[in-house]
Amino acid sequence: MKWTHFIFLQCLLIAVVGAVVYIHNDEVNLHKIPPASLAKWYKPENKRQEWLHNMFKLRREMQAVKLYSTSNEYELLDKWTAQLSKHYLRISEMVPEWNKKLDVEALTRLQVSVKDRDQQSLSLALDDLNTSCDSCHRDYRSTVATIYRAPDFSTVKLSQPVKYKKHMKELIRRVNQIKIASEDGKQDVALSSLSELKHGIKLQGETCVQCHKKDTRVYPDIKMIKTIEKLEQSLATGTRKEQGRALGTLAVQACARCHGTHRIAYDNKTVLADGPNWRELIKH
Ligand code: HEC
Ligand code: HEC
Ligand code: HEC
Repeated sequence: MKWTHFIFLQCLLIAVVGAVVYIHNDEVNLHKIPPASLAKWYKPENKRQEWLHNMFKLRREMQAVKLYSTSNEYELLDKWTAQLSKHYLRISEMVPEWNKKLDVEALTRLQVSVKDRDQQSLSLALDDLNTSCDSCHRDYRSTVATIYRAPDFSTVKLSQPVKYKKHMKELIRRVNQIKIASEDGKQDVALSSLSELKHGIKLQGETCVQCHKKDTRVYPDIKMIKTIEKLEQSLATGTRKEQGRALGTLAVQACARCHGTHRIAYDNKTVLADGPNWRELIKH
């Protein structure tokens, strides 16, 4: 094959791949995944969420530098600039792969302008530093928080030999059984399903302590218990509308609230941990 043909074929291939990705860009969402070395700075590999604590320090130090640069309290300005420098450079000590995300030139300019008491160039350098914070946050902040800090339900154990996910399916089956029986006027079925749901909720409540060790969670709490009583009453003597309302309230209190924090976060964590599903990507 002539080399011109070869290059032409290469270009064609690149163009086709590019076009396929571009055409489907509204169906595929790519995330940047942080380097694995970050795990060292989070639980369980670390005793604390050390990466996050370094970040909190940085935000405080940026605020202090800004404050003392305008109030002309130079000794304090020197102190906080030294701390800011240390913790900013710590980013690449902790995760060497992120060395290129740092704007070391802006930091040097900040240090020089602090030394020269040059407020104008200090302010510019601080803005540039801030841009480098924002740039990394745009790429990684939410994925890192999800991967390392969202609660992990894969190890949660129930006191009975049933898998957590299976237990969830049982719970929703009971909720819907109550609804179906209520609509069809089958009072006995509705009441016995409610009694099974109560048992399932109690089992669920025993698992909170596996993560909430000091900050004890009560589940079911007083409000849920009251709603369950109301539901029981209305299933025995109330109208279908009252039954529906009580069941809806219970589903919000006992299921939806928890899903809003724990399940959404855990689902996202699972998706990110599983990585891209190439078959799905190609299918698109
Ligand atoms: C190389 C990447 C990177 C750079 C540069 C960076 N950060 Fe971060 N930052 C992160 C990541 C990743 C998180 C998410 C951590 C988490 O939620 O556990 C984060 C989170 C934070 C948070 C916590 C946000 C919140 O409200 O929960 C603060 C505050 C913060 N960074 C401040 C800063 C400041 C100030 C700078 C610049 C001086 C900076 N960061 C530079 C990666 C970076
Ligand atoms: C796999 C671990 C895990 C399990 C199991 C778990 N949680 Fe949580 N929960 C967390 C984490 C992490 C947070 C985030 C806030 C925090 O650090 O307290 C949280 C936050 C919450 C919040 C919102 C924040 C607040 O303080 O109001 C509530 C309410 C809550 N949990 C209730 C429960 C209840 C009720 C159960 C049991 C049915 C439960 N959790 C089981 C890990 C867990
Ligand atoms: C601790 C908070 C919490 C409470 C309370 C809770 N859930 Fe869940 N639920 C979860 C989590 C976390 C998952 C994801 C489990 C997984 O994917 O392994 C889940 C998943 C589910 C699923 C999907 C199961 C599947 O097949 O993927 C259903 C259905 C469900 N829950 C129903 C309920 C119902 C009904 C209630 C109330 C009676 C309830 N949940 C109460 C946290 C909770």
